[in-house]
Amino acid sequence: MADARPFHWEFKPEPVAREVLRIEGGRRLEGSVSISGAKNAALKLMAAATLTGERCRFTNVPEIEDVRVLTEVLRDIGVTVDHPAPNVYEIASGDAEWLFVPLEAAAKMRASFILLGPLLSRFGRVIISNPGGDRIGRRPVNLHVDAMRALGAEIEYRNGYYFAKAPGRLRGGPVNFPQITVMGTENAMLAATLADGHTVIEPAAQEPEVDDLIEFLQKMGAQVERTAPNRIEIEGRRRLRGADHSVVPDRIETGTFIVAAGVTHGRITLEGAPYDHLGTFLNVMAEVGVSVSRTKDAIEVDATAADITPLRSCNVETQPYPGLATDLQPPTCVLLTQATGVSHVHESVFEDRLEWLGELRRMGAGVEIVDQHHAIIEGPTRLHGAEVEIGDLRAGASLILAALAADGVTTIGGAHHVHRGYEKIDAKFLELGARIERLAEGT
Ligand code: EPU
Repeated sequence: MADARPFHWEFKPEPVAREVLRIEGGRRLEGSVSISGAKNAALKLMAAATLTGERCRFTNVPEIEDVRVLTEVLRDIGVTVDHPAPNVYEIASGDAEWLFVPLEAAAKMRASFILLGPLLSRFGRVIISNPGGDRIGRRPVNLHVDAMRALGAEIEYRNGYYFAKAPGRLRGGPVNFPQITVMGTENAMLAATLADGHTVIEPAAQEPEVDDLIEFLQKMGAQVERTAPNRIEIEGRRRLRGADHSVVPDRIETGTFIVAAGVTHGRITLEGAPYDHLGTFLNVMAEVGVSVSRTKDAIEVDATAADITPLRSCNVETQPYPGLATDLQPPTCVLLTQATGVSHVHESVFEDRLEWLGELRRMGAGVEIVDQHHAIIEGPTRLHGAEVEIGDLRAGASLILAALAADGVTTIGGAHHVHRGYEKIDAKFLELGARIERLAEGT
């Protein structure tokens, strides 16, 4: 790197404003809620905006902590990020000058690693920290790094940082992943849009958020296409242009509210929810006995029949899309505590993503964690209020669901984690009739 600014400062995490949620459970949730833009699309779209110096404009961006963190990271490297109205972000990265993504950013949010591909491809170099992120499994980034090398990048790892260079331009070529990776696919795709020549990514992740990114890249003038369900092909371009895009709605938030209706025997309308992106999850809901139907721009969930006909147990296994999303495994587990019978849960994407079930057990759930990938849930159990602690985002939202279903009062510590990925979640539940309060820790 030409610039010799020091980068080896000692990492001191900022004090986080710790928060507690206090929930009085046992109320049937009813009403209507608006689904926000998807976190896992918004972050990648914002990163994609660094592929051009021209202005990109995003609407339907969720107002969440991860978007705020990425905004800061982008500003730190010299990118202009304007926020002219709620849910609207404008990004212009003509002047990105400091191609360094520090540990501070990476420790707060693993998704900051998505900047590797676009910055390397556009500017020819970047120093980026090895990311931290949620505590769900090892979460390595080796597949991202291998993909960049397949495109001709030279990458060295020293002192917790990847030093990446592209001599001349990156070169298109085959990127073959040994397993499916969502962000790995996205990073390779972003890098390949400005590489010299043709890239074929296989097997490519099929998540709807990847297709949202493809759509945006096409608007930027990139030649990128999904040519088979698990194959993406890219013909590199010299330049891309600015574009506008509305972020795809969040299927994980949608699934979370569907379960909220299920566990409280409620009836909820989810405005703007992406019905088509929830196939396998909706099959599980049908099997368990939660009725979900589609209207023109919404999804209707009706679980009032559960007052009379008990919910049914179901065996589930998480898989890359179009399988059951690992991000919907925790909410599904909460629902299964309310179903009659024994359910087997197989978490096949991440190890350690079942650990949170220990907290659910403290609320009375009949849960056995068999090993890192398997759990057994026996229901129905009457959950009761307890003091529980949130360790990661999706587990956090699921403890809220459990608290809504439980008798008595639950206090959920570390609740600020939930704001990483859910816009105004407490306000949305309040609208539906929940008794939920946000308190600073210690009050
Ligand atoms: N993996 C590797 N090496 C890599 C990358 C991944 O071994 O370099 C492994 C992972 O450890 C995991 C598997 O591959 O076992 C799949 O991980 P993937 O790369 O698909 O996950 P990701 O791209 O890091 C995204 C979402 C996650 C979501 C997963 C799976 C973002 C920012 N994150 O992660 O979302 O769970 O795909 O769908 O898009 C969340 O939103 O709470 C969240 C964790």
